[in-house]
Amino acid sequence: MIWDAVSWLLHPYAYFQRQARRRGLTWRAWLPGLGRVLMSGDPHILEQVIHHPHLAGGIAHRALRATLGEDHLIVMSGPAHRPRSLAVRQSLTAFSSDQEMARLTRQEFDQLPLGQPFSLHKVAHQASLRIMLNGLLGADQESAIVKLAQQFQASFSNPLLLFLPALQQDWGPYSPWGRLLRRRRRLQEALLQQLQHAPQDCIGARLAQRVAAPSLPVELMALLMFGHETTAATFAWCFALLQPEAVRRIRDGDTRYTLAFIEESLRLCPAVGQLTRVAQQDLSLGPWQVPRGSVVMPAIPLAQQNFPDPQRFDPERFLRTAPPANHYCPFGFGERICPGKAMALRQLVVMLETVLQNYEIRLPLGYQPRPQRKLFLVVPQAGTPALRLA
Ligand code: HEM
Repeated sequence: MIWDAVSWLLHPYAYFQRQARRRGLTWRAWLPGLGRVLMSGDPHILEQVIHHPHLAGGIAHRALRATLGEDHLIVMSGPAHRPRSLAVRQSLTAFSSDQEMARLTRQEFDQLPLGQPFSLHKVAHQASLRIMLNGLLGADQESAIVKLAQQFQASFSNPLLLFLPALQQDWGPYSPWGRLLRRRRRLQEALLQQLQHAPQDCIGARLAQRVAAPSLPVELMALLMFGHETTAATFAWCFALLQPEAVRRIRDGDTRYTLAFIEESLRLCPAVGQLTRVAQQDLSLGPWQVPRGSVVMPAIPLAQQNFPDPQRFDPERFLRTAPPANHYCPFGFGERICPGKAMALRQLVVMLETVLQNYEIRLPLGYQPRPQRKLFLVVPQAGTPALRLA
């Protein structure tokens, strides 16, 4: 049991595949902090999960609640969820222009010394953070606020702090949890302060018109953190999966293909490994009984194997058809589907085209990306190592 939990924590894709081979597409597991969980990559089960009126999202995100706070969309459930979801969705229509996203991407890649190894994930992380701040606050942000966001992130680099509530004690500014809380407050204050000078059409200003003042700093910070981390991880996967044909077509500015390429990368290597839903009453999913209060976890990489020749990397499949949510859900599904989806896909298209059209980037010969958990996400091991040649 413990070994299963450790294996899920460290290498979720490998864990899902091993369980599916041994026990089929649906199985029960025990996970720390969540207890007995029903995991499934079976499209028939997922179809029921998507439409089930008594499976609620948001509740099981304990670690996200502890680190980011209580009052933001990702951890909300019940009647509070719908109005906040609407407010966030209406605000997220105003993201940065393609030109701005390309400019911020180039600024990060221009700084890379020629011939020196670097982590694509790290550079994409920095670019995404600045793009997200730009969208939230409407202008290129001073390095001070970028630094505050990085400091806040650095304070939970130890995963034990996130997953062991016993460590989440504020014993002053030098204790790990005390440091995290203080950095979080400083970042929220800085976001609010910058928002006072922001244009009316940026995400932050639109959000300020739609959510109550006390909720605003937490929601702003949650969007900033969740938005840029997921996009950076996906960018690292896209690069890790690039092949010469894809490089050629993305360089040629074949945007439809670039989007299909990103969608296929998200199919084989989704940055979010699983969703969580909590049963609000005793219920059944196919032959499986789910007691009230227990967690159901759709395993995204497994569900996304239900394609012809599933292991083959084939962006063309997304040019032909749009798969249903129970077969393809890297952004989740139902009423909790990711509100940042359009923004993330547009940003990834711009970043990939910008990097491939302006730089010569090489990955180590024979590089095989291995999935590894990094806090809440799954990223390529070593963050997709690369060299800039020109
Ligand atoms: C490639 C990038 C991204 C991926 C793979 C991704 C993936 C996801 C997934 C899997 C969920 C859970 C949905 C569910 O439970 O059914 C989610 C929710 C969410 N995402 Fe994203 N996301 C990405 C980018 C973004 C961006 C850019 C933003 C904000 C600007 C964002 C904000 C959110 C929020 C606020 C939720 C919570 C929605 C709710 O529970 O109602 N995401 N995302």
